[in-house]
Amino acid sequence: MTDSSAIAPPLRSGTAEVHEGDAYDLMEKIPAESVDLIITSPPYWGLRTYGLDHNEEILREWESQGGSKEEAPSYDWYRLHGGCLGLEPLPEWYVSHLVEIFQRSAPALKSGGSLWINIGDTYFARWSSIRMDGRQGLGDNPRMRRKTPMGGFRQEKQMLLIPARFAIAMQDKRWILRNDVIWEKQNIPPRPEKDRLRLAHEHFFHFVKRPKEGRAKYYYDMAAVEEGARDVVRVNAAAGSDGHSATFPVKLIEPRILSSCPPDGLVLDPFCGTGRSLAVAVKNGRRGMGFEITSKFFAAARANATDADFATADTNDAELPAQRDINQSSQLF
Ligand SMILES: C[S@@+](CC[C@H](N)C(=O)[O-])C[C@H]1O[C@@H](n2cnc3c(N)ncnc32)[C@H](O)[C@@H]1O
Repeated sequence: MTDSSAIAPPLRSGTAEVHEGDAYDLMEKIPAESVDLIITSPPYWGLRTYGLDHNEEILREWESQGGSKEEAPSYDWYRLHGGCLGLEPLPEWYVSHLVEIFQRSAPALKSGGSLWINIGDTYFARWSSIRMDGRQGLGDNPRMRRKTPMGGFRQEKQMLLIPARFAIAMQDKRWILRNDVIWEKQNIPPRPEKDRLRLAHEHFFHFVKRPKEGRAKYYYDMAAVEEGARDVVRVNAAAGSDGHSATFPVKLIEPRILSSCPPDGLVLDPFCGTGRSLAVAVKNGRRGMGFEITSKFFAAARANATDADFATADTNDAELPAQRDINQSSQLF
């Protein structure tokens, strides 16, 4: 964990720094109005543990202290009681915690800055399985089974619309949503379900700060976006790296970094994983800063952030198993 002093962002363009710890704490230590672009992909709800220990009794503990299921505890209470971001017992708690963490980034983001958040959706299952790592639909990773309380929209087979719930909660906190970019992935794994289509997209939300008066104004270089400037981008999921399966594909983030951060500007990824966003920022003459909670990925991000090869666009696409290899243990949603 980084100490309690303020974090000084790197001064020279083409360099990056990575800090180990919880984004919730580290966000508060960045100097005000110092970040041009926050670009990130937080842990998704109910998918992976990233090797972190999680307290599965946390809902019971919350209720024993007088809390109710419907009212999420603060993120601080949650983590102090052994909760991990992304493993909340209810999706509503997860959305609340994500918003709380991004709210803490607001002072550090310049008034003309941008916040790009990539997030995917999940289906509800009363009994769900959580992977240590690995991609949805691939059955060969260690999993744990857990029971999720049903109620309200939390029903079997339900697509939870977590990205939409998150985006609306952010709007309610004064963020202006400028785009909901659909990231279409062609190389998604086969699925065993016979009664629905495969989930082949994720969302990439572009938020900016709402000024006290007038309309939002922020840096944007239209010449750096994809040809056609459409809000649907087709990019294959990248092969994992350093034991991490949710690595950003370069082609997805490079146009965002070039168009939403000026040259020499500061790019922050508060859930930086393997550090791909930092490497792409550095390669393009920006300054990079990353946060990561696990020691393993922190070390990987540090090594990768200034590695030009790691930042190149011809990164391998993820390899997929054939439909016949989707074994009986695959979970049906
Ligand atoms: C979806 S992955 C990000 C992958 C990244 N975009 C890349 O290209 O490698 C989310 C990362 O957030 C980390 N993480 C989870 N909770 C965190 C927290 N509270 N603070 C900082 N990092 C956290 C996980 O360990 C994981 O590496």
